[in-house]
Amino acid sequence: MRLTGKNAIICGGTTGIGFATAQTFIQEGATVWITGRKEENLRAAAVKINNPQLRTVVADTSTLAGIAALEQAVHDSGAPIDVLLLNAAIVGIQSIEQTTEAEFDAQFNTNVKGHYFTLQKLLPYLGEGASVLFTSSGSATAATLNTSVYAATKAALNKIAQVAANELAGRKIRVNVVSPGPVATELVLAAPAEVLQHFASSTALQRLGQPEELAKAFVFLASEEASFVTGTELLVDGGWANYAYK
Ligand SMILES: NC(=O)c1ccc[n+]([C@@H]2O[C@H](COP(=O)([O-])OP(=O)(O)OC[C@H]3O[C@@H](n4cnc5c(N)ncnc54)[C@H](OP(=O)(O)O)[C@@H]3O)[C@@H](O)[C@H]2O)c1
Repeated sequence: MRLTGKNAIICGGTTGIGFATAQTFIQEGATVWITGRKEENLRAAAVKINNPQLRTVVADTSTLAGIAALEQAVHDSGAPIDVLLLNAAIVGIQSIEQTTEAEFDAQFNTNVKGHYFTLQKLLPYLGEGASVLFTSSGSATAATLNTSVYAATKAALNKIAQVAANELAGRKIRVNVVSPGPVATELVLAAPAEVLQHFASSTALQRLGQPEELAKAFVFLASEEASFVTGTELLVDGGWANYAYK
């Protein structure tokens, strides 16, 4: 087991990649806190994971009040954080022409501002040698139609992670980014079959990724195996970013 005794927080852990990572971290020996906006989603996740190593906190990361709720729970636990995974995101697919201010703000508040201030507020609780992880997206460096806001949120996250890696290195805290390609989560599987087929055929491996394949990348980066890895972006995308025929 590669995370024995580690205390991990996953912001946005009720479904998809965050949920699979919570399961995998627990299998690797960690205690895992997952957050989400809704009590019922957290309860459902807890029933599925069914392990005393799991804790849940209702915390909407798009608001400073939600972040404060998580900070309070961490403070009350008295346990330092070894792994912080900033994973929550919402996606809007609209052209620049169609995007409203509310849609713009919602994505930036969850995907960027929320993670920025979660990191800031939890800094005092990160132990020496902790691992901070961001879930970005291949979209950050692509220029896919109708993703201007979402892609910009992920590009911002990549830059925040790079600067954080430099600022936190003195405390031996490593900061890294994982950028998924198309992954078969609830979010993606809601799309029509032809869209799913298009996603699959846009990767070199000609398929969607599974959330568990992302979880394995997070375990690597969270563990001692990645002790000399910081400030980097790991693409876990089936070759999507560089696929010549998409
Ligand atoms: N799936 C893909 O193909 C893909 C590709 C590239 C990048 N990604 C990235 O991977 C990450 C996970 O995506 P996913 O596909 O696993 O999506 P998902 O199943 O929709 O999971 C998103 C998670 O974020 C939580 N969340 C959303 N807004 C939140 C908020 N304001 N406060 C707290 N939690 C919030 C959701 O919990 P509640 O709904 O319970 O609040 C849920 O646990 C995201 O950063 C996404 O951008 C995914």
